[in-house]
Amino acid sequence: MRGLAILLGGLTLTTAAFAADDPIAVRQALMDNNGAAAALAGAVMKDELAYSPVIGKAVIEALSATAHAYGSFFPEGSNDPARTHASPKIWEDPAAFQAALDKYSADAAAARQASGKDGPADKAAFAAAVQPVLGNCKSCHEDFRLQD
Ligand code: HEC
Repeated sequence: MRGLAILLGGLTLTTAAFAADDPIAVRQALMDNNGAAAALAGAVMKDELAYSPVIGKAVIEALSATAHAYGSFFPEGSNDPARTHASPKIWEDPAAFQAALDKYSADAAAARQASGKDGPADKAAFAAAVQPVLGNCKSCHEDFRLQD
């Protein structure tokens, strides 16, 4: 047990150091997670995957976790254009970026609230809960993400 505690403690420290040292890598990993969650939602909407409340819950929790964490990984100087697609507008107009983050968080919190303890009961309830959250992807990318 003690060995496990030391191991887990070590992992936490490593993660913390990684986050502090490389916020670009962390925020891109968070967005990759968002991409995977949105793809899962899309597969359900297109009936490529049978809906179950467990899936709805997992998608909404993943989007919500990113919404909470995302804004913490944009320190000054983390804008090396060789590595990031984050737009300079994030640092030029932080209030506007914060407003986009706040809207994303509020929509994710509402979806979480609507999904209850066990996840939305059926596909229609899932769609109604998740679609407002997914609307944030496009709007924030248009304003704050550079195209390739
Ligand atoms: C509040 C703003 C904001 C919201 C909301 C947002 N994104 Fe992003 N997203 C960004 C920014 C900024 C980047 C570029 C980050 C970078 O390259 O450092 C990005 C990058 C990405 C990437 C590429 C990640 C990589 O590895 O380079 C994916 C995939 C992505 N977003 C998916 C999504 C999806 C899906 C949603 C909606 C569920 C979403 N995003 C919502 C701002 C946002």
